[in-house]
Amino acid sequence: MANDTNKFQAIISHCKEYGFIFPSSEIYDGLSAVYDYGQWGSELKKNIKDYWWKSMTQMHENIVGIDAAIFMHPTTWKASGHVDNFSDPMIDNKDSKKRYRVDHLIEGYAEELKAKGDTQNAEAVLAEMDAFLAKDDFEGLKKLIEDHKIKCAISGTSNWTDVRQFNLMFSTEFGSTVSSDGEDNKVYLRPETAQGIFVNFLNVQKTGRMKIPFGIAQIGKAFRNEIVARQFIFRMREFEQMEMQFFIRPGSQKQWYEFWKEERMKWHLSLGIVKEKYRFHDHVKLAHYADAACDIEYDFPIGFKEVEGIHSRTDFDLRNHQEYSKKKMQYFDNDLDENGKPYGNYIPYVIETSIGLDRTVLMILSEAYTEEDLSTEERKDNRVVLKFPPKLAPIKLAILPLVKKDGLPEIAREIMNDCKFSFRCFYEEKDTIGKRYRRMDALGTPFCITIDHQTKEDNTVTIRYRDTMQQERVHINTIKAIVEKLIS
Ligand code: GAP
Repeated sequence: MANDTNKFQAIISHCKEYGFIFPSSEIYDGLSAVYDYGQWGSELKKNIKDYWWKSMTQMHENIVGIDAAIFMHPTTWKASGHVDNFSDPMIDNKDSKKRYRVDHLIEGYAEELKAKGDTQNAEAVLAEMDAFLAKDDFEGLKKLIEDHKIKCAISGTSNWTDVRQFNLMFSTEFGSTVSSDGEDNKVYLRPETAQGIFVNFLNVQKTGRMKIPFGIAQIGKAFRNEIVARQFIFRMREFEQMEMQFFIRPGSQKQWYEFWKEERMKWHLSLGIVKEKYRFHDHVKLAHYADAACDIEYDFPIGFKEVEGIHSRTDFDLRNHQEYSKKKMQYFDNDLDENGKPYGNYIPYVIETSIGLDRTVLMILSEAYTEEDLSTEERKDNRVVLKFPPKLAPIKLAILPLVKKDGLPEIAREIMNDCKFSFRCFYEEKDTIGKRYRRMDALGTPFCITIDHQTKEDNTVTIRYRDTMQQERVHINTIKAIVEKLIS
């Protein structure tokens, strides 16, 4: 691998070539920052979803899942603060007309300084930017850009507009929706799944007889009109989130914030990724709803970047929904406090864990993508192998008859029929066995079995392990148990 940018490009090409991820509506030249998952990408994504869902709900007795609609009453987004606050400071280059997120523009400049070895200056620029962002000091940000003569990548000039806020929500028309003041209202495509949980807080709490502390989890699409939307599926305009809101007693938020930081990091490590590839990043500028927040960052081929956010959201959302909807969002807590009195009625505080599904797909792909040089003295050879954790691999078992005759396909089909109810299998009889193995390596299939003439004599097959490429003979009756043990 020459460098990490090359690795990133290689992953993008690999995803397209092997049916993982395609640009959206590609026959019309694609749609910027929108992607489609192909046959193997969607299996991978689904396996990640299932793994998250099970670890959050099945493994936590006090967390349940819901599936709320994407469209929500427009007042939701006024109450949540998104109409007024879900915006980023932007700046336009007057010559190229290209619009940039100010933090991305300055971060890009800092990266250039670092690449030139000027780390000290880069850190100083970033620290100044953080200070201006924390104070919403737009003049300061513009001056910082001008003082450093930061240029537009397209026009090459430093001819900038003032810094302004730009709302990131998409909106559309919703025929019959009428707001409380009688005006037709636009509806938004949700920019986060969290609000679907907040507006259902009482429904779930009452019908599920949930006692605080408890959580509500959800997986679903979210939409943001991202300005700088490049870097493949890292930053998309339509993406999926896996979010969990954990409802707690006011005053206990520090303790639960630390709990969920630790718990979520454990989940990441359970993917088989070493801890050196992760780090926490505390937010300097807090979102409008948070009193503490951090990101879990993963070391992507494009550098350390956010995969998941953990936010202490106080009672901001429930309190605002109570105010806008005029419906009580309170919980009655009959547990006793230290003075022996019931805690009584209160609006719960919330700790949120919010992980991007597409970013997790990219993380798993980045971790799995491996180019191996297998050359020997006699011949040059190499392979690309996706070393997915077996539990996440799109295909678990490839079933390969050595030849298309002599009754071998029939035995292979029998094995397929036996295993396909338990996990995803793939049957293939075309091409040489070597080519078929390499193709399965490129799809990340952890196990291949080959049915050959010896199978007819002693009911054994060759099982080949993806990562070591080692092979051994096993009895047909043991295949299912071997695979099931290794994917569980
Ligand atoms: N409910 C809180 C919330 O939405 P966020 O930090 O804005 O917080 C949470 O988003 C996660 O969603 C991020 O950590 C990231 O993984 C993912 N995400 C956010 N914007 C994204 C985008 N444009 N494309 C892909 N994933 C995105």
